[in-house]
Amino acid sequence: MCGIFGVIGSRESSSLILDGLRRLEYRGYDSAGLATIQYSRNNQFGELFTRKSKGKLINLSNLLQKKPIQGHLGIGHTRWATHGKPNETNAHPHLDFSGQIAVVQNGIIENYRDLSKSLQLKGIKLISETDTEIIPQLIGLEIENMLGKGLLANGKTLLSAVQKVLTLLDGTYSIAVIWSKAPDALVVARSQAPLVLGFGEGEFFCASDTPALVGFTRTVLPLEDNEVALLTPLGIELYDENGNRQRRAPSLFKGTELFADKKSFRHFMLKEIYEQPETAQLWIDRYLPSDSPSENSVAFPITKSLVEKIDQIQIIACGTSRHAAMVGAYLLEQFAGVRTNVYFASEFRYSPPPVSSNTLTIGVSQSGETADTLAALRMEKERRDLIEDSNFSFHQLGITNRLDSSLAREMDNVIDIGSGIEIGVAATKTFLGQMLAFYGLTLLFASNKQKRSTKEILELSNDLRLVPKQLVDLIKKHDALSKEIAHMFVETKDVIFLGRGINYPIALEGALKLKEISYIHAQGYPAGELKHGPIALLDQHVPVISIAVPGVVYEKVLSNSQEAKARDARLIGVAPNGSESAIFDELFSIPKVSEWISPLLTVIPLQLFSYHIAAHKGLDVDQPRNLAKSVTVE
Ligand code: F6R
Repeated sequence: MCGIFGVIGSRESSSLILDGLRRLEYRGYDSAGLATIQYSRNNQFGELFTRKSKGKLINLSNLLQKKPIQGHLGIGHTRWATHGKPNETNAHPHLDFSGQIAVVQNGIIENYRDLSKSLQLKGIKLISETDTEIIPQLIGLEIENMLGKGLLANGKTLLSAVQKVLTLLDGTYSIAVIWSKAPDALVVARSQAPLVLGFGEGEFFCASDTPALVGFTRTVLPLEDNEVALLTPLGIELYDENGNRQRRAPSLFKGTELFADKKSFRHFMLKEIYEQPETAQLWIDRYLPSDSPSENSVAFPITKSLVEKIDQIQIIACGTSRHAAMVGAYLLEQFAGVRTNVYFASEFRYSPPPVSSNTLTIGVSQSGETADTLAALRMEKERRDLIEDSNFSFHQLGITNRLDSSLAREMDNVIDIGSGIEIGVAATKTFLGQMLAFYGLTLLFASNKQKRSTKEILELSNDLRLVPKQLVDLIKKHDALSKEIAHMFVETKDVIFLGRGINYPIALEGALKLKEISYIHAQGYPAGELKHGPIALLDQHVPVISIAVPGVVYEKVLSNSQEAKARDARLIGVAPNGSESAIFDELFSIPKVSEWISPLLTVIPLQLFSYHIAAHKGLDVDQPRNLAKSVTVE
């Protein structure tokens, strides 16, 4: 989604802003811009300059080389279009009618239509198609009003004007505002979209995400919802929504690998696929050590008493995280015997109200900032808080890769998947990390609820411990094979992925990966559904990828695959090598493992297959069109 970076201090701001925006580049965007204020000694006020360009940051950087701008105060933005096409006019920063106030915004102003109408009635002409432009225009009007009443043109006046305007806005957003007449003030605000403040040496920053700050400072303070801050070269003042001064100490960000380094890989996505054995090994060392007192215990930060209480689980997530949740739901129900439902976060608000107090609500989000997921979790908390029954308690758990995220801060219990920062927009190692978190929960619930024998639990634990080594071999093998066959699929328009039972979510994930990075239409189906409609699509031009792992649904998946082959589809198997695999035209072979752990392995060839097709087509694998790494609008 959109990225914000702002700085105030003693150094030239435009190169710092470009640097900050570069560190937010992985979030995905379609245009970028920045505004600076240059203070002039002859004139107590400053002068505002803006530069904007469509497309990648390199375009903005080239523009700045040709037409540099100066100033020790500035704000920058990478835009992911919501309202209005990605072009220069719609790119941020947006200005007010006087051209003196600049605003960048991440999020959506939901009532912008009404506010635009009222601005137009006041004779203000809006230039862009964005929802954001109303903000500087409203601030401009407010300031005009304040100056008319005799207030001085300075940072405090800007702060008051912003505070006033915020009361008019509905939506999920964060903003940064500068005004040429207050050249020593940067005002920022947050309403449900992330914004972090950074404390440097004689300079202060704001950014949408911590990685953007780490090159400048590790002393950070995330803004809480509805807070506003005034940043000056001398320090930061923090206010709550009622204008009360807040005093909170910043903390030292401890993450070690927030600097993106592609190493020798062509793309971050490939590097991250290769990092999966490490993700799995770290997870096992941390949560499932073989030298633990009880060999099968999971060292999660969740109390035994909480696990004992729970008899139902509901999981809320989007996209790939939802697929991990579906694997988790299968495990929790089938292995641990706990009733579990998975919801699309964006559809959760239409779900039935809670009936049991013994329900655990789990939010899964690698970024921890997905607006749909956060909104659903907040809604669930609100409606549960309304229940006037003292026995009706609310239990929540977040599964995330970002302990500094909103999700982690808002949940009572958090499982850190510890996959390390993921830069490729297509989630790979974090998907594995999320699935592993569910394996851990499954072991925890199964042993506490005594649904499985000690032997079965031990077997699953031991199988999990073998996964890192299996992943190393699989990645090497399928990287080579996928690269070899990728050219055959360059002209392909549609692909069908089939899976059943615990591997049905992997069929969905395989299809999602292919769609998002290679732009080939792909659909995942439960294998049994093929004959109920999708089979009509099949001919020699539509490859079918079938995940067939020995276990409870093996024979059935093989029969469903035969049905596809009989319609001339090119059949690709993700299956162990053996006599049954002879039906496949191509085989992504996987080791013969227990069906329980198979999703951790079957997903690997599908990630590499998508990657190599996209790379062969010369596409922008790490920043596919229209996508964003962190989806902070609903
Ligand atoms: C796909 C992908 C997305 C995300 C989804 C949720 O590769 O990355 O589908 O899974 O946008 O994001 P998080 O996990 O950050 O909540």
